[in-house]
Amino acid sequence: MPKDGSESSLDHSELTLDGLGIPMWLTLELTYRCPLHCPWCSNPLNFDKFKNELSTEEWKKVLRDGRKMGALQLGFTGGEPMLRDDIEELVREADGLGYYTNLITSGVGLTPERLKALKAGGLKQIQLSVQSSDRELSHQLVGVDVFDQKMAVAENIKAEGFPMVLNIPICKQNIDQTRAMLEMAERLEVEYIEFANIQYYNWALLNRDEFLPSLDQLKAAEAVVAEYRERLGNKMQIYFVIPDYFDDRPKACMNGWGNIHLTIGPDGAALPCQEARVIKGLEFPNVRDESLDWIWNNSPVFNAYRGDDWMKDPCKSCDEKEQDHGGCRCQAFLLTGDAANTDPVCSKSPMHDVVGSCVANSTNPHRVEKPLVFRKKGAISTDFLR
Ligand code: FES
Repeated sequence: MPKDGSESSLDHSELTLDGLGIPMWLTLELTYRCPLHCPWCSNPLNFDKFKNELSTEEWKKVLRDGRKMGALQLGFTGGEPMLRDDIEELVREADGLGYYTNLITSGVGLTPERLKALKAGGLKQIQLSVQSSDRELSHQLVGVDVFDQKMAVAENIKAEGFPMVLNIPICKQNIDQTRAMLEMAERLEVEYIEFANIQYYNWALLNRDEFLPSLDQLKAAEAVVAEYRERLGNKMQIYFVIPDYFDDRPKACMNGWGNIHLTIGPDGAALPCQEARVIKGLEFPNVRDESLDWIWNNSPVFNAYRGDDWMKDPCKSCDEKEQDHGGCRCQAFLLTGDAANTDPVCSKSPMHDVVGSCVANSTNPHRVEKPLVFRKKGAISTDFLR
């Protein structure tokens, strides 16, 4: 099997359910550095150990190689991608290669000058994270007083003519503000608002009991969303998905492992999803050592949960497996200890109770509340990850 990336030896048509088998969605985690301390951060618990970030030239090579393989949608994320002083250069390179570029940012560091440079470089869309319509709650949730800064950035994004996605992680603490957050989005004239129900990996998993909203809260928020969808029509697209913990079927996570998503971590590690490092025992290939083509097509990690050969029952014999691919591998590992198990969100999983008991525990009126664990170096011991 060639490792030099010159030629793929794989018949893509055999590989995936969408028949393409190419990494259409490329996510570049440019850095794990971040000025915020979000307690739901998707970055690894030991994020501070990843200091050897790819250089500008190394990222450019990833962009070229990804494009050759058919990648089209590109997300620059982090940590906070604006902490890289080469983001403008990378956007320019990506645009020249023909990517549809998306910047996923907290807005901190996104000055009017840098916005102009990104626009000139061809950036297509900005996804700005906001945690609340209320300054004080925002401060409480991210550990830093940046609400006013975010609002100013939102106005500047619009002034530059970018389509804007407002991304709001939804949790017990802010879900009752759904109406106020929609009013804020309307005022800011955003094109898309995504109420992103928190996914429980890494930092969010540490805080799960504090974050999981109740079913009543979710239903009330959903009703407000329906009212706004009715009133605003196409003026603003509103995404709101009930968290999978409250569902009886799992999400088709990443559209299937190694199917269309490829993430490159700050250190060059190639990951089938941004959370994949939580699965113990996987050795992630690195773009510094291997070609992107070999990584995608031939590396053991990307083939570990591709297709359905790896499945056990009940997934193996399930007539829904082509829709949900057995759910999320990372969630299966974190909640059952084996990434090849059925995602326990599924009511057919023999371990479905673990999800039910989490929901029950989070809404137990006698539960003793714990302080949130904020993403900070040294916030918890990560010796167990070594
Ligand atoms: Fe990794 Fe779902 S988050 S497979």
